[in-house]
Amino acid sequence: EKGGYEHFMLKEIYEQPKAVADTLTGRLSDDNRAVLPELDWALGMARGIDRIHVVACGTAYHAGMVGRQILERLTRIPVEVEVASEYRYRDPIYTDHTLVLVISQSGETADTLAALQEAKARGARVVAVTNVVGSSVAREADDVIITWAGPEIAVASTKAYTTQLVALYLFACYLAQLRGAADPATIEEVLAGLRDLPDAVSKVLDTAPAMKAFAQQFARKESAFFIGRGLDYVAALEGALKLKEISYIHAEAYAAGELKHGTLALIAEGVPVIALATQDHLYEKTVSNIKEVKARDAHVLALTWTGDEEMASVADEVLYLPRVSPWLAPAVVAVPLQLLAYFAAVERGNDVDKPRNLAKSVTVE
Ligand code: M6R
Repeated sequence: EKGGYEHFMLKEIYEQPKAVADTLTGRLSDDNRAVLPELDWALGMARGIDRIHVVACGTAYHAGMVGRQILERLTRIPVEVEVASEYRYRDPIYTDHTLVLVISQSGETADTLAALQEAKARGARVVAVTNVVGSSVAREADDVIITWAGPEIAVASTKAYTTQLVALYLFACYLAQLRGAADPATIEEVLAGLRDLPDAVSKVLDTAPAMKAFAQQFARKESAFFIGRGLDYVAALEGALKLKEISYIHAEAYAAGELKHGTLALIAEGVPVIALATQDHLYEKTVSNIKEVKARDAHVLALTWTGDEEMASVADEVLYLPRVSPWLAPAVVAVPLQLLAYFAAVERGNDVDKPRNLAKSVTVE
């Protein structure tokens, strides 16, 4: 049932081009619109939304952080993102037209479900992004966007995450187009990028041998840092979570500009730093941050676009990624970071699909 792969996680990593294509099926029209027939929202309702709360746990929370940036850019609706275990006990403030977006692969996460119930009790409309048709979250939400990733068995979330990103890009474009776009050029860029995304995800799987080679040294380390700005910071958070979860290497993700407010004290000779540099408008800033950690003799692996001519002289090692719109970069960057966590965990002899202390579906508080 692992289809020839050694672990479910590796199989699911390799299923991503298809999973992403399945999430997109029927949802991109020829005239470049995001189509979500399952929503079928009235114009007045869509135009009335004045606040969005995104609530999720773990990897789904990171998808929500990406979702916030694209939703705010395309709709100009203020968006808050919070982990469900905090949100549900915080007495959040709802306007009469607050939309709550919950994200859960399994649709059974106890905290996310409780947050959904709280939001409904307070009169908010709830949209769920989930992978499981008929799950508790899917049954209780007002609207459901299914990700169609197929079953995800490994505890570490891979294809569920990349398909959540796709669902959120589609939802942001759908809502923006319905309301009257604030930024049609970005909508077009995102929709065109989505069409090419299965192909880009397939190409980025070719980084597997390079990530395997890197992981063999890296697996002996006890601590690592992931840095980036903007969407690269979100991608860094997800990369660090994946690494901790299955390799048990301590990892910290940092907004690159925050390093000198404390974390730089931990950077010493040979400390691995994974630096993400896919956000063109922040590129030079990130390069400066890489130079800061290099000056403390960190060992830097940088991830940047194919064609980059500067990075090779700045970082110790560079991994080149097939170029996509920077808005879609988190979906491409996720893949080599999943592979890094996977190969490091294998190298350390860990139970990759069932990491210690963790469950696939967290149905208790
Ligand atoms: O089923 P859910 O999406 O609600 O699960 C949320 C988290 O428990 C989950 O994403 C977790 O963080 C992953 N194991 C991380 O890889």
